[in-house]
Amino acid sequence: MSSFTGNHILSVTQFNREAIDLVFNVAESMEPYAKRKKRTTVLDGAILGNLFFEPSTRTRVSFGTAFNLLGGEVRETTGMANSALAKGESLYDTARVLSGYSDIIAMRHPAAGSVSEFAEGSRVPVINGGDGANEHPTQALLDLFTIKRELQYNNKTIDGLHIAMIGDLRYGRTVHSLSKLLCLFKNIRFTLISPKELAMPQNILDAITDAGHSLHITEQLEGNMDADICYQTRIQEERFPSQDEANKYRGKFRLNQSIYTRHFQSKTVIMHPLPRDSRTEANELDNDLNLNPNLAIFRQTDNGVLVRMALFALTLGVENLVSQYERDVVWYTNK
Ligand code: NCD
Repeated sequence: MSSFTGNHILSVTQFNREAIDLVFNVAESMEPYAKRKKRTTVLDGAILGNLFFEPSTRTRVSFGTAFNLLGGEVRETTGMANSALAKGESLYDTARVLSGYSDIIAMRHPAAGSVSEFAEGSRVPVINGGDGANEHPTQALLDLFTIKRELQYNNKTIDGLHIAMIGDLRYGRTVHSLSKLLCLFKNIRFTLISPKELAMPQNILDAITDAGHSLHITEQLEGNMDADICYQTRIQEERFPSQDEANKYRGKFRLNQSIYTRHFQSKTVIMHPLPRDSRTEANELDNDLNLNPNLAIFRQTDNGVLVRMALFALTLGVENLVSQYERDVVWYTNK
């Protein structure tokens, strides 16, 4: 059993480099199951309560898929309106009840701090799938796992990385959590590109400088930026006081092949937590990048399954039993 067993995963501040290495090693070992070379039933009989009180496609489905790939079953609750929270029930009560029906819970909610509040009432481990503009720890881990893998192709490590983060750094929880995780590494160069009003929160800027990393803040893409990773984000319109306010920033930071060529190196890896806003007025990551081999967005989504499988296995204490419950895959598969 590891230090993960039986514990909640609420924030990236729970992780050190040793814990990250453990998650990544277990995630690597999940690849044959995710690629359908083998299957495992190690979580046969276990139930995941997948509670998403805010819109989600890939996070919700990849949590569910990861649990299914380990042999477990998934119960879904989606949308506030479909739950007793709409009748005024507290997060504590909902947690007491639903934790009686599940072995583990993954949860997303629009309010910052809500998942921790929920976890206080839960009798089973709770994994934070995003709490308002606050944190998104599993996304940060899958982003970091992707960064590590992408850099390996270029014979580089996370230590010494130069990352450019672009767009809505104020409300974007993925860049908050990823920045905090990167602070655990050495000599990171952060270039943060956003309008002043959408700047990275001060507590994260402080964490970056306190950890001795280099920080460059600017309002626009500048010259050739020499970044290893370009991490584009979506304007988080649902967190703005009004739609008009959000519209002011829509389309300000488009990235297409010609802008990429102008500002980045030919090997700069392009990442985005997705969804990318592809409406013409936003078009933040143009389809003309789809054939660019450095576009890592769909490798991120595939890696998300591996990392979430690892977190489930570790939290439920079965990380060393997975292959013992292995079976052959008997259906056609071309993964
Ligand atoms: C992000 C989120 O929900 O914070 N998406 C995700 O989980 N993959 C980013 C976003 O919605 O823009």
